[in-house]
Amino acid sequence: MVTTPGRDDSPAASYDPMRQFAELAGDVRDPYPMFAGIRADSPVLHVHLGTGSGARYEHDPDAPPITSLFAVTSHELAQQVLTDNARFSSAANAMTIGQVMGRTILEMDPPQHQRHRALVARAFRARVLDQWSDTIIGATISELIDAFAGDGHADLIPQLTFPFPVRVIARILGLPEADWPRFLRLSTELIAVMRNWDRAVAASQELRGYFAEIIADRRRHPRDDLVSQLIEAEVDGRRLSDEEIYPFLLLLLPAGAETTYRSSSNLLFGLLSQPSQLDAVRADRDLVPQAIEEALRWETPLLTVARTATQDVELGGERIPPGGFVAVSLGAANRDPERYAEPDAFDIFREDTQHLSFGDGAHRCLGMHLARLEMRVLLNAVLDRLPGLRLDPAAEDVHIHGMIFRSPPNLPVRFEPA
Ligand code: HEM
Repeated sequence: MVTTPGRDDSPAASYDPMRQFAELAGDVRDPYPMFAGIRADSPVLHVHLGTGSGARYEHDPDAPPITSLFAVTSHELAQQVLTDNARFSSAANAMTIGQVMGRTILEMDPPQHQRHRALVARAFRARVLDQWSDTIIGATISELIDAFAGDGHADLIPQLTFPFPVRVIARILGLPEADWPRFLRLSTELIAVMRNWDRAVAASQELRGYFAEIIADRRRHPRDDLVSQLIEAEVDGRRLSDEEIYPFLLLLLPAGAETTYRSSSNLLFGLLSQPSQLDAVRADRDLVPQAIEEALRWETPLLTVARTATQDVELGGERIPPGGFVAVSLGAANRDPERYAEPDAFDIFREDTQHLSFGDGAHRCLGMHLARLEMRVLLNAVLDRLPGLRLDPAAEDVHIHGMIFRSPPNLPVRFEPA
């Protein structure tokens, strides 16, 4: 059974965030043959959904139903859509995740997007992050590994990769440790918006109340944390209101927690399933960065990002009308044989490990340096502290799954106890 470290003791304690995450991923083992078939047929597939298929956004009865979408599966066209904000708007995100997070940068288009993104961008630059490498990220990994290093066995998902990034983001935001379990539960419920709308709305409201107290406290007593930085920040010569700060905080939370937990899990899964590559990285730590990039390419944590066409667009032989819903398949693009030799193989030695897992263009992931840093610190700590690490030979059916998000639900391992 999977257990959740740091479980909440609130009335909602019977709710298991890890199970919710696992369910959200969907139980699709391998969507890649399907992507390959679609891509070989046409790099842009017009999918007719019909009107009675639940494709209407249930929370907004006035919104027009989505009757079709255009799935983009080639690397070249995916990159083209992501880097063309004029013809492909990010407003699509307002209809989904925006409904519970408020107006975040994810749904903004230029020029408003740049002004708002700039407010938090500085905090996520690679150089600024380096200061957190030991204090926040290294300390968080150490405390998690300390808890099981003496056992000789562990399930690396619930015991390591799952709790790790949410603790990091909580520390970056300066949230008190006692609040972390509640914070984890609420962020999990928030991101599961497409699965359980009512629960996500309730979580969003509870988080706003929670952040209101934190913001009020930081206004009185500024600290060296991200919440204090947002309070001080100015857009167009004026400070942000609480209503403008909430969406930032609500976005950082799941964006920072969920994807990185999955990317770290996929990295460990890739290496543990290919012991010769694990040995190579263990022997030569200079290989760590390319192992990280290859894991991100091979199994992207997030399979799809959404756009809407702002005008009539011709793409890959399809005509997309204004308002047409475009689903950019990062997963399919990352395994395009036109771009990568043997795209389905996990191979840390491949020459071209550039990928679209962080998106591209103006909305390219703001947290990518943090995600890479977390993955690097985690992998090095695992290699340093868990000698002889291998998949548990008794474990059955260890696999990656998911259709929205992808990662392994469990990763049972053995190692020499400390
Ligand atoms: C491996 C881990 C991660 C992956 C795969 C990932 C993936 C992505 C992708 C694909 C986008 C672009 C969405 C779009 O174009 O519509 C994005 C945007 C974003 N990500 Fe990440 N992300 C990761 C980690 C993080 C972390 C750690 C943070 C922050 C703590 C973060 C914060 C954001 C934010 C704020 C945006 C919106 C940027 C914008 O709209 O300008 N992400 N991420």
